Amino acid sequence: MDAAGGRSVDAMTAANNPQILVVADAAALAPIAARRLVERVRHGHRAAVCLTGGSSPLGLYRLLAQDPWRSKMPWADVHWFLGDDRFVPERDPLSNMGAAKRAFLDSAFVPKQNIHPIPTEAGDPETAARAYEGELKQFYGADRFDPERPLFDLVLMGLGPDGHTASLFPHSPALEESERWVVGVPRTNVEPFVPRVTLTFPALGSTREMLFLVDSADKSPILGRVLAGEDLPAHRAYAQGDLVWLIIRAAAPESIK
Ligand code: 6PG
Repeated sequence: MDAAGGRSVDAMTAANNPQILVVADAAALAPIAARRLVERVRHGHRAAVCLTGGSSPLGLYRLLAQDPWRSKMPWADVHWFLGDDRFVPERDPLSNMGAAKRAFLDSAFVPKQNIHPIPTEAGDPETAARAYEGELKQFYGADRFDPERPLFDLVLMGLGPDGHTASLFPHSPALEESERWVVGVPRTNVEPFVPRVTLTFPALGSTREMLFLVDSADKSPILGRVLAGEDLPAHRAYAQGDLVWLIIRAAAPESIK
C-alpha cells in the first residue's frame, strides 16, 4: 500500500482484467456512459464524479443536460471534479472546465457550489496543483486514501494518441507519483502544447468505477497497444473498484471486435 494509501490487490487485479464494452458507434456510447454514471451516483448521499477533458466525453456531457438523464441525475448530491485541465483561463477554448460548463455544468439545475474547477488562474501549475490537492483532501475528509472508502463514485478517462490519459504522459515523472494527489505538468508532448494540472494515479484510482471512453476509430492502434499490456500511461491506470473500457467497434482491436 503506497503513501497515498492507493493500490490494493483488488486494484491490481482489476487493472489486469478490465471490463471491455464494445458499442456500435459514438451515438451508442454516450447513453451507455450516461446510464453508468447515473447508476453510480444514485445512492441517496453525497457523490463525486471526476470528469475528463478532450473531445470524447462531449457527447455524454451534452446528453446529461437532456432528459431522461437530466431528471434521473440527483444534481443536489453530485459534486463535479476534473481529472486534469490545461493551464489556461476557463474562457479559453482549450479549457476542459470551460468545455464541461458549456456542455452541461453551467445549467441552472447544477448547484454552483458542487462544481470544483482546477484553479488554472493560480500563479503556476504547481501552485494550482497544491491548491486542488487541498480541496480534494478537504472534500474527502482525510489526507490518505482508505481503499474501502473511494474518493470518487466515477472517474471518466480518455485515451491520447501517445497512450497518455488525464495529463499523465509517457516518460513523465508524474507517472511514478505515489504521494501527491495532484501535480503540475509544465510541458506536454502532444497538442495542445500548454502546461497542465493533473490528478495522479492514486487519486484517479480512488474510485468505485473508472470508465475509459474511446469514441474514434483513429484510436485503434494505440488502444490495441494499451490493451495488449504495453507500458503506457493508460495501461497503468487502475481503480479500487471497476475498471471499464467503453469503446466503439471501429476502434476495437481485432482480438475483441
Ligand atoms: C486533456 C485530456 C486528455 C484526453 C485525451 C483524449 O486534457 O486533453 O484529459 O487526457 O482525454 O487526450 O482526448 P480526445 O478525447 O480529444 O481524443
